Amino acid sequence: MNAKRAIPVRERNIVLIGFMGVGKTTIGQLVAKKLYRDFIDIDQEIEKDFNMSIPEMFEEKGEDFFRKTEKEYILDICRHKRFKIVSLGGGSFKQEEIRKCCLENCLVLHLDLSWENWKQRADLLIESRPVLHNRSMDEMEQLFNERKVIYDKHNSKVATDNLSPEEVADYIVETLKIGWDLYQPM
Ligand code: S3P
Repeated sequence: MNAKRAIPVRERNIVLIGFMGVGKTTIGQLVAKKLYRDFIDIDQEIEKDFNMSIPEMFEEKGEDFFRKTEKEYILDICRHKRFKIVSLGGGSFKQEEIRKCCLENCLVLHLDLSWENWKQRADLLIESRPVLHNRSMDEMEQLFNERKVIYDKHNSKVATDNLSPEEVADYIVETLKIGWDLYQPM
């Protein structure tokens, strides 16, 4: 038999996906703290290693370069790390290889915010998110809905409307503990 041995559920990285600005980084940091695990934000890792912001990278090296880089970083963590809490950039799940690797090796949680709530945050996000530049509200809504389809591939979804980051993180931690006990009692 050459089937790969599945990673035990408790050891799997917890991967947060969702649209830009739904709180993946803030909530990921809180979850990591509550579980005494390390937190990795893919965009922050890229910014640190290349010594440039994501908008600068889009500007100077182009989106294709960024997408290739985020894929390398995510696949590396997916394949070689365990026990991490990982926040992905909102566009990364468009890449099939990333989706496949995360769903095979990690627990993927979709942070699901409604469009009505998201659009109230839009002004705060646009400058630092190059894919939102020069888009009308209607175009942003279209992108939001297109992305929803790719985030549908997940292990679990958390509806975050009207919840604080702390409340979402508590909910995730409780749900994970129930899931871990169910699938792999200590
Ligand atoms: C992007 C989302 C961003 C960042 C980049 C592209 C996207 O991350 O990776 O600006 O295409 O949705 P956040 O989801 O953390 O904002």
